Amino acid sequence: MYALLRTLLFRLPPETAHHAALSLLKMAERLQLSRLIAAKPAALPRRLLGLDFPHPVGLAAGLDKNADYIEGLAALGFGFIEVGTVTPRSQGGNAKPRLFRLPAAQGLINRLGFNNHGVDYMVNRLRHTRYRGILGVNIGKNKTTPNAKAIDDYLFCMRKLYRFASYITINISSPNTAGLRDLQVGSALASLLAALKAEQQRLAEQQGRYVPLLIKIAPDSSAKALRVLAQQLLDHKMDGIIATNTTIDHTAVAHEPYGKETGGLSGRPLTAVSTQCIKVLADILGDRLPIIGLGGIMSGEDAAAKIAAGASLVQLYTGFIYHGPRLIQQAVDAIKS
Ligand code: FNR
Repeated sequence: MYALLRTLLFRLPPETAHHAALSLLKMAERLQLSRLIAAKPAALPRRLLGLDFPHPVGLAAGLDKNADYIEGLAALGFGFIEVGTVTPRSQGGNAKPRLFRLPAAQGLINRLGFNNHGVDYMVNRLRHTRYRGILGVNIGKNKTTPNAKAIDDYLFCMRKLYRFASYITINISSPNTAGLRDLQVGSALASLLAALKAEQQRLAEQQGRYVPLLIKIAPDSSAKALRVLAQQLLDHKMDGIIATNTTIDHTAVAHEPYGKETGGLSGRPLTAVSTQCIKVLADILGDRLPIIGLGGIMSGEDAAAKIAAGASLVQLYTGFIYHGPRLIQQAVDAIKS
């Protein structure tokens, strides 16, 4: 079923296909047809971050940036869903075209640039959602906010979304917002983490509920830099790490059509790189800080490899675009066996 749909969708420009697919999904869910597209994967319960996951395979951030499609996506059988990245104010993102398929490499390159309707829109969506499963909310900063003021953007989004989130992801790893990844190192990181922790404690007390904070990182750091980062996350008592975002290293696809487009590369060319990051992080973190692993999970085996490398949960994005909802079941099965 998805193979046929994919053939049709892949004839459209990638961003048009993205919106068409999500609109179809929404319609199918409203007509209660989504069970025809995907069967709910068998349970494989995991307890992590104080949350009970029905199984360890979730949807990565960036597919449902505004929380418009949660119900339909949940009906496909994801064990948890992460929405965003959302920024304080609505912004259009970069000029189109800004999303490219690399089918021979099973990859995507995107330079969307946090196109989203802003945090108030998302709050309104989350107020009305029927979804009761585990919801991650991924937050970022506006393009026009200088890095010196980035903390204010993260705190602003955190305050607005705290009550709706099962966990909050701090995105400091998108390559498509100039300077964002500088927040992953040194005193910029230390100040950000300290401010986030203080705000989390304040909100937890005020609302009587502790919402875990996870940091999403890029795959392009050296092993040494990853170890320093991991130590900083421990020092500031973060709750988890999401590894990884897309890569800016296009060497593996430089010969492909669109391979030299600026942006973050995802999918198959990222699989080994992100698994290696997870290994390095797991070596230093042990079981002190859980890892959600993603990056190029294109098969059940890729998902199991992320778990073997030290991740406790996994997320899908590009693999889901190429293989559809059956990849969820395949990943659960491979992790189980
Ligand atoms: C992304 N990703 C992403 N990540 C994030 O934290 N916030 C975002 O808004 C987006 N947006 C986004 C758009 C598109 C088109 C893609 C392909 C990816 C990154 C995504 O969540 C994931 O970390 C990477 O794509 C690596 O995983 P896959 O795609 O190789 O499974």
